Amino acid sequence: MTRKLTIASMITLFILASTVAFAAAPGAPETFKAKCASCHGPDGAGATAVGKAMKVRDLRSADVQKQSDTDLQKVISDGKGKMPAYKDKLSVADISSLVAYIRGLAKK
Ligand code: HEC
Repeated sequence: MTRKLTIASMITLFILASTVAFAAAPGAPETFKAKCASCHGPDGAGATAVGKAMKVRDLRSADVQKQSDTDLQKVISDGKGKMPAYKDKLSVADISSLVAYIRGLAKK
């Protein structure tokens, strides 16, 4: 009986935890597609017309991925060269979800 209850609560906890994890990243893929893909491409490769003209680096490349989360957050937040600043448009949480999303693109 106790054992059954424990398993049931573990399952409940697991479901709750996955819901929270999902909610904690509010649509990073959508934000990326809407605000970033025009230059960086939907896959981060930067193979768009604008991306090529601006010579953006492939976000999946080692040169980009070797930078720390803080470095990447700073570029998104403050901008760099032709990269627009997003600190007035996106929250700190949105920006860190985007960095996590960029890390995910590299693993595909
Ligand atoms: C108008 C085109 C444009 C848009 C839109 C844009 N970027 Fe960029 N991004 C650039 C350019 C150009 C650079 C290279 C800046 C440099 O190094 O001079 C860059 C650099 C970066 C880098 C650092 C990569 C490196 O080369 O080290 C990250 C991370 C990044 N962008 C993420 C984003 C995210 C996330 C968004 C959407 C919120 C976004 N960018 C939207 C043009 C853009």
